[in-house]
Amino acid sequence: MSSTPAMNRQAKAARRPPSKILLDGGDPGETKHIRDLLGFVDGQTTNPTLIAKNPEVARLVKSGQPMSENQEAAEYRTIVRQISPLVGDAGVSIEVFADLDTTADAMLEQGREMNSWIPNAYIKYPCTAQGLKAAQRSVAEGLRVNITLCFSQSQAAAVYAATKGAKAPVYVSPFIGRLDDIGQNGMDLIANIKRMFAAGDGHVLVLAASIRSLQHLLCSFHYGAELVTVPTKVLEEWAQTGMPLPDASYSYPPTGKAIAWEELDLNRPWESFDIRHELTTKGIQKFVADYRSTLRQAS
Ligand code: E4P
Repeated sequence: MSSTPAMNRQAKAARRPPSKILLDGGDPGETKHIRDLLGFVDGQTTNPTLIAKNPEVARLVKSGQPMSENQEAAEYRTIVRQISPLVGDAGVSIEVFADLDTTADAMLEQGREMNSWIPNAYIKYPCTAQGLKAAQRSVAEGLRVNITLCFSQSQAAAVYAATKGAKAPVYVSPFIGRLDDIGQNGMDLIANIKRMFAAGDGHVLVLAASIRSLQHLLCSFHYGAELVTVPTKVLEEWAQTGMPLPDASYSYPPTGKAIAWEELDLNRPWESFDIRHELTTKGIQKFVADYRSTLRQAS
């Protein structure tokens, strides 16, 4: 069965997988395209790299028009306001600007501001000590959060412990593709976190991120990730192949070094988990560089 124009919106929507589908992108035009293609988009995730690639931001940068930090924020706000009404109840994740020195206070201030942009915002904080402090205070204030750049089971455990009592579901985003990039089996992290959270109270949902292939997507469904965030190219491939779902005989083609399961007690204080990870640090540095490149080239 293939997804053709003849496959109407209702038929396509009926093929919804068990995981909510979020588009990983920064262009509202792509959101409309994917909504037409699939018949639905449950939510969207953005980040500084994706916003730098937004056609209007790229045009401003290319034309050499100076863009201050305030103007960049205004562009980001315009983009998420266009995306917001196009998606379902998984909301739009908006990422705070954070370098390695940004304090929890500074992140929280940005988070509050970004939360006022749209009614369905999820504020993205990095999985660092300052990011988790900001997240802890955010959920106490009723903000919805998505903890990004998660590369280990310990980091996911810390997210769980830091956000206990949250009224809205908390998202944690383990990055599959970037673990594959360093020779590990990124899918194992999804499996391990899901297994660990099975002993918890269900307040943190796994948002499988850094999905680079159809196999990543199918295996995320298979492992029961509550949400997946997927780039346009992979969603197009999924649609072109008839929006397949893994059946009972599904198995993921082995890739990379296995990531070992850890026995972790979710009741420990979040500060007691080792949340350091080189890919979290590198990820922050890359987001900072992409964000600053738009300012530097525009001024
Ligand atoms: C989503 O929240 C992430 O920012 C995104 O999935 C990262 O994907 P990448 O590793 O392909 O950049």
